[in-house]
Amino acid sequence: MSVKIAVLPGDGIGKEIVDEALKVLEVLNRSFGLDATWEEGTIGGIGYDVAGDPYPEATQKLVKASDAVLLGAVGGPKWEPLAKPLRPEAGLLRIREDLGLFANYRPAKVFKQLVNASTLKPEVISGVDILVVRELVSGIYFGQPRGIEELPNGEKRGFNTLAYKTSEIQRIARKAFEAARLRSNRVCSIDKANVLEATEYWREVVTELHAAEYSDVELSHMYVDNAAMQLIRNPKQFDVIVTTNMFGDILSDEASMLTGSIGMLPSASIGVDYAMYEPIHGSAPDIAGQNKANPLATILSAAMMLRFSLNRADLADKVEQAVENTLDAGVRTIDLADGGAFVSCSGMGDAVCEALEALA
Ligand code: IPM
Ligand code: MG
Repeated sequence: MSVKIAVLPGDGIGKEIVDEALKVLEVLNRSFGLDATWEEGTIGGIGYDVAGDPYPEATQKLVKASDAVLLGAVGGPKWEPLAKPLRPEAGLLRIREDLGLFANYRPAKVFKQLVNASTLKPEVISGVDILVVRELVSGIYFGQPRGIEELPNGEKRGFNTLAYKTSEIQRIARKAFEAARLRSNRVCSIDKANVLEATEYWREVVTELHAAEYSDVELSHMYVDNAAMQLIRNPKQFDVIVTTNMFGDILSDEASMLTGSIGMLPSASIGVDYAMYEPIHGSAPDIAGQNKANPLATILSAAMMLRFSLNRADLADKVEQAVENTLDAGVRTIDLADGGAFVSCSGMGDAVCEALEALA
């Protein structure tokens, strides 16, 4: 059965890295019996440039008519002066909200070939395999009221709202417990319950759901400041981490550095009806257009798409194996090279495609 993918390269390095993931999908079409087609749309700064909107209407239609969305990255200095709703990041937040993508899975797995690429000691990071489950469509990113207002004395005040409803906490916690059952069966819920009521309530709801339906899973709770420290001190203590939108944003960047490079981390954002796959890194405007970026996070995101949206776990395994084999062969992009030899973005994509063909 033919599957249709909406491809949204976005800005900066987005196009380069997505092109490499598409090369991988072409190999799967050609040699592995995948029957995927794709159509490109715009999002972020490029969406603003072509349609005056960072989440153009044509893109809204396209993603809703597709089986899955593959996204590159958004943002860049060019669009920073724009009003907030027109900025690239607003487009990304709107597509997440519009598609109801409440569960963001960010696996941070250390590839054995890269233990020396991390700034942390090999014995601390080897074997790390963490899944960050980040709530993606609520919390302080979306809470109302928000804004920047002028006070009577002429001073200004910026403000945001952190709020979580019972149902929002339950549905993300459920995803975390279910993911844990397929892994090492441990969930650590991260909050700031000692200070923030919204996360005091988060802890209460997670605890109740655990007792009612998931008591077979080992549950612990941790304050976010301690979690930031523990991730560096002893990352192997974590299996699944479940947390709020903003804490998940921050902790997943931190977790990525355990793996050596933020260029290695894929993600899946899943809702009830739709799913989107994207690397966790940004658009890296400083290296955009130079064929230098690491496409592996995007290629691994395509593997997650095969597994979770296209029902082809067999092909996801092949792509992941091809990435392993490519790393085994010593192929590195500059971010992984540790001062040694490196290949370009397209060079890495070619190497993965070759390794994949060899598995056919
Ligand atoms: C991420 C990014 C986004 C976020 C930005 C670009 C809006 O940092 O996906 O982690 O904060 O969610
Ligand atoms: Mg982020």
